[in-house]
Amino acid sequence: MIIRRPPDIRSSEITPKNVYVNRRKFIKNAAFGMAGVATVPAVLNTLESEEPQEIPARFRSMRSELNEPLNSYSDITTYNNFYEFGTQKDDPHRNSGDFRPAPWTVRIGGEVNKPGDYQLEDLLSPQRMEDRVYRLRCVEAWSMVIPWRGFPLADLIRRVEPTGNAKFVEFKTIVRPEEMPGQRAPILQWPYVEGLRMDEAMNPLTLMVTGLYGMDLPNQNGAPLRLIVPWKYGFKGVKSIVSIDFVENMPLNTWKQMQSNEYGFYANVNPEVSHPRWSQAREIRLPGLFKSHPTEMFNGYGDQVAHMYAGMDLSRWY
Ligand code: MTE
Repeated sequence: MIIRRPPDIRSSEITPKNVYVNRRKFIKNAAFGMAGVATVPAVLNTLESEEPQEIPARFRSMRSELNEPLNSYSDITTYNNFYEFGTQKDDPHRNSGDFRPAPWTVRIGGEVNKPGDYQLEDLLSPQRMEDRVYRLRCVEAWSMVIPWRGFPLADLIRRVEPTGNAKFVEFKTIVRPEEMPGQRAPILQWPYVEGLRMDEAMNPLTLMVTGLYGMDLPNQNGAPLRLIVPWKYGFKGVKSIVSIDFVENMPLNTWKQMQSNEYGFYANVNPEVSHPRWSQAREIRLPGLFKSHPTEMFNGYGDQVAHMYAGMDLSRWY
């Protein structure tokens, strides 16, 4: 069993102090990041922190479909990208305490027969929540294995009945600079926007997520509702969603808008298409330190998704 048993093993007990201190120094000096910002090894800084006692027992033996061990709760909740709370990896964890994820309303609009302002509870009440363990592969070339809790986006889409004109789905994050300190500066253009083609949105792998490790999403991971698309780079997983629109034209997603030569709309994990500033051929599997693993095409989900891109030149549609 490789899974750390958080309540009884502290990493400071299994990793000699000089080793983890040196690892931190090493990562601090290794510059890679979406906006060219050197990432701070928040995940390593917090390895000593305790896991919450209330993690349900079923997660002790849970592994991914590919038989991989889960990352720890503290890895997943202290090493984040959520620029609304700052650009450093530990900013979302440190700066999201004032964010209020309830009450929450999601506006559903555009080409649908049942548009409206839906209270989150009403949106969720017909859904059957499942645990799904996916590897999250960030475009920055690190990845983690995360046990999400959620339901297929397709179930929500069927309920609101898109019209025949709906070709894409567009999602937006809430704008609340008073609670989200990163939004007080023009780091990105707010709100954060993401989109999917209709067939991608309907794929059974695509999830609306409300929790992880069987508990409600913490603010830093996108409370109370986010998207997860496991064969795409993590930036497609827009957090704290307040609107879902069904549209005819391809939405302009935030990272494409920022740097369209570096980030596209599709963002399928692809070891053969390098980011202009780094290769995507290999990845760091956190809490590891080195690019020790080859990146898998479509993050390992090719048999379930490759058909959607048949005939497309994926180096052009990156
Ligand atoms: N959503 C919003 N609103 N703002 C962000 O900065 N970052 C994205 C994505 N969703 C981001 C976001 C990126 S780059 C990644 S890798 C994932 O969230 C990280 O999700 P996690 O912090 O839960 O691991």
